[in-house]
Amino acid sequence: MCGPVARRVDQEGRMPQPAITGGFESLRKKILIVDDDTGLRQLIVEGLSNSDYDIAEAESGTEAIRKIGEQAYDLVITDMMMPGMSGMELLTRIREVEPETAVLVITAYPATHLAVTAMKKGAVDFLAKPFDIDTLLFKIDVSLQETAISKNGVQARGAEPIQLVNKKEELSLKSYIYENIENASGGNDQIFQKIVDMSMQVVDGESGALLLYDEDEKLFHPQVIKSGDVQDYLDKKLPFLTKLFLEVVEKREAVVAKSGEKGEFLPTVICAPLMIRNRVFGVLTVKKDSRGPGVSRNDLRHIQSLTNRASLNLENKVLYESLYINLIETFKSLVASIQLRDHYTEEHSYRVMELSLAVADAMGCRESELESLKIAAILHDIGKIAIPDSVLLKPGRLSDDEYAIIKTHPAIGDSILQFMVIFGNERNIILHHHERWDGRGYPDGLAGEDIPLLSRILCAVDAYDAMTNTRPYREAMKVEDAVVELLRNRNTQFDEKVVDCLVKLVLRQSR
Ligand SMILES: [Fe+2]
Repeated sequence: MCGPVARRVDQEGRMPQPAITGGFESLRKKILIVDDDTGLRQLIVEGLSNSDYDIAEAESGTEAIRKIGEQAYDLVITDMMMPGMSGMELLTRIREVEPETAVLVITAYPATHLAVTAMKKGAVDFLAKPFDIDTLLFKIDVSLQETAISKNGVQARGAEPIQLVNKKEELSLKSYIYENIENASGGNDQIFQKIVDMSMQVVDGESGALLLYDEDEKLFHPQVIKSGDVQDYLDKKLPFLTKLFLEVVEKREAVVAKSGEKGEFLPTVICAPLMIRNRVFGVLTVKKDSRGPGVSRNDLRHIQSLTNRASLNLENKVLYESLYINLIETFKSLVASIQLRDHYTEEHSYRVMELSLAVADAMGCRESELESLKIAAILHDIGKIAIPDSVLLKPGRLSDDEYAIIKTHPAIGDSILQFMVIFGNERNIILHHHERWDGRGYPDGLAGEDIPLLSRILCAVDAYDAMTNTRPYREAMKVEDAVVELLRNRNTQFDEKVVDCLVKLVLRQSR
């Protein structure tokens, strides 16, 4: 096997336009953003700052027309509602003076009918507010490609219809990559598997691998290997590829190499970086069949689309997860402090969580419901933070007024979490964890199946855990006695299906 013969491929930021030096032309596109709203304009410019486009701005239709007169733009992104010249008028003027410039219109959601009119007048696409930059980037990419397709189509005058069909296919392949990566679910391992599978699928590869990069040790750790003989891949191909991977890391760009196998010298290997915040955390490599035509520009484009989409997705996932974990940890310490004050052991909420999850799982709850219950069970009594010591720690019987104060804790818990949009489901479970099956609970007096199932589960498990653990004012009950108590309150305090499931589980555990 010969050493790698690599060729550079331009790749900067998240939205690169692939080009092999000496072979394909550079595709840096010019985009003009037109919006009278400076804030939104800046937001778009900022969102595109990492992309490989030349960006210009105009705050009115008139300024846009002046700029278009000075130089040609590949794409104009314009708001529809602007004082003076509207987006629609601007579109008409552009069609007159620069018919080849693509126009993408932005419209407020209730005015999407305007977007349809705009498309009839020649806009390539529209974007309804509010939108995220990710969607805008995708639409820009597709709009620019569509324009290229129609230009080539006009030039071809029907002489090469196949070429046009291929390009349309290429475009839908790009959409396919985008959607598949967007919808990739599961843990990182599953996402990595999907990235390799898709890369082999889109370029018709015979083998593929994804390796994570250890920056400190400068080592590559294989995560996914798709090859006929994995051991052979690890022993023979990987050492050869490592030089190439290091080049990818150093350049932070995709690299194409000749495999040199069987004396053939076609470029058949593509290696592309996976990056988070501009740092390479992994490398994707795909090898095409040495007997085939080798790596094409389209192959490169697809692999780059794939790695860029995947990188962005993983970055969002990592950010979300770390934010989420931080938030949960903050709440956990808050809960721990309440439980210390209440002389309740910190393990209470964890025991409640584990047993609730076991009951919910046995009752056939979905994975997403289990995730919500896990959080809700830990945080269910977070509202007790607002209950004064004189009430919360009172050893004797509570007066009606004191009991009324205690009864506010689910609603307080709900309001503590109200600003966390991501805790919508958890808030609902917490709010209703003291409702009773017979409707005599609090805060809303919901009855039967009007009470969320996960709240009914949490309610019974919470009561069971309180009964079977020592409190300052009484000794722990035996499991059998607590079971009797649960059964006695079937269909009054507790949902009988929940009780039956819970009893079965705790009796099995106690044996
Ligand atoms: Fe509670």
